[in-house]
Amino acid sequence: MASSSAKTTAADIEVDPAVLADLEVDSYDSSGFATSTQSLTSSINSYVFENGRRYHAYYGTEKNHLPTDEKEQDRMDMHHEIMLQLLEGKLHLAPIGNSPQRILDIGTGTGIWAVDCADTYPSAEVIGTDLSPIQPSWVPPNLKFEVDDMSEIWGYKDDSFDFIHVRNLSQSVEDWDHLLRQIYRCTKPGGYFELAECEFTIKSDDGTAGPDFQKYMKLLTEACVKLNRPTVTADMAKDLLDRGGFEDVKVVTLKQPFGPWAKDERMKKIGAMVMLTADAGAEGYGLAMFTRVLGMTAEDSLALCQKTSAEIRNKNYHVWEPFHVAYGRKPLKASEDK
Ligand SMILES: C[S@@+](CC[C@H](N)C(=O)[O-])C[C@H]1O[C@@H](n2cnc3c(N)ncnc32)[C@H](O)[C@@H]1O
Repeated sequence: MASSSAKTTAADIEVDPAVLADLEVDSYDSSGFATSTQSLTSSINSYVFENGRRYHAYYGTEKNHLPTDEKEQDRMDMHHEIMLQLLEGKLHLAPIGNSPQRILDIGTGTGIWAVDCADTYPSAEVIGTDLSPIQPSWVPPNLKFEVDDMSEIWGYKDDSFDFIHVRNLSQSVEDWDHLLRQIYRCTKPGGYFELAECEFTIKSDDGTAGPDFQKYMKLLTEACVKLNRPTVTADMAKDLLDRGGFEDVKVVTLKQPFGPWAKDERMKKIGAMVMLTADAGAEGYGLAMFTRVLGMTAEDSLALCQKTSAEIRNKNYHVWEPFHVAYGRKPLKASEDK
């Protein structure tokens, strides 16, 4: 997947002719895509309930505007499968070799990436950190979870991890330079950092983006800018890693389709999984950002989220979101002033 050039973007996604067959009918007829998954464990802690969703409050509600309830945990787990499919079964693109010793996953969420990572690399001690203790307790013996705020100074030693991984965290990061300094300091010389982020925008190769989803993404981007947590583009990801001191930085941009409209079977499956998480995703990312940050009413916010997920289920719209995976290596002779 990674190429020798610094930036790579996936080719156009061709629409399945079967999807185009009857444009009078909006919805997909394959009922197999219509069910949703059910619950994971929840933790006893400090929460607030807002507009029907539960948010973690131990560190305050400002740091993470995504809910942490079971609906969100199910969405995160499904999104992990989507990311795996997008990366054709790989957990990461950084060439970390077969026997890393220490791996850190920041903002681990349900910890599902960290669990897979610990299983994949039995040689490694894997640590997953998050603001919220929503991770399972039955995990591989080489994995532990810690409650930690990534925006503070980290307690880990210099040069102590072979690989540091960050995925889907951009909506919570106000100071990338601070985060990159911690990451760089704690990565071993010769070790890798990988940043995997969906960019909050939708695109369409056949010009069929729907108005409500476009409005949703525009407002979400606006809220992120207002919070000084800009959505990550390919250029920004490259710049962050370059500025952070990493070398041989590569950025691979993949397309995450919304809905099973693609002709290609793998993309169709990814789109179907994204459609399954449409309600949870639209609400999860949008609701608190629109009400808390943009001051919209709960009714208007919820209505926009619902119209957005309806457009995702509408087979006449063939849209995708860019998913950027950027990785780079800490120089073997790392300069001491970083
Ligand atoms: C969208 S989820 C992504 C979870 C996981 N990385 C994944 O891709 O499956 C974002 C996670 O970042 C966590 N988070 C947000 N702000 C954080 C902070 N300041 N320190 C640590 N974790 C944070 C949230 O609690 C949430 O679990």
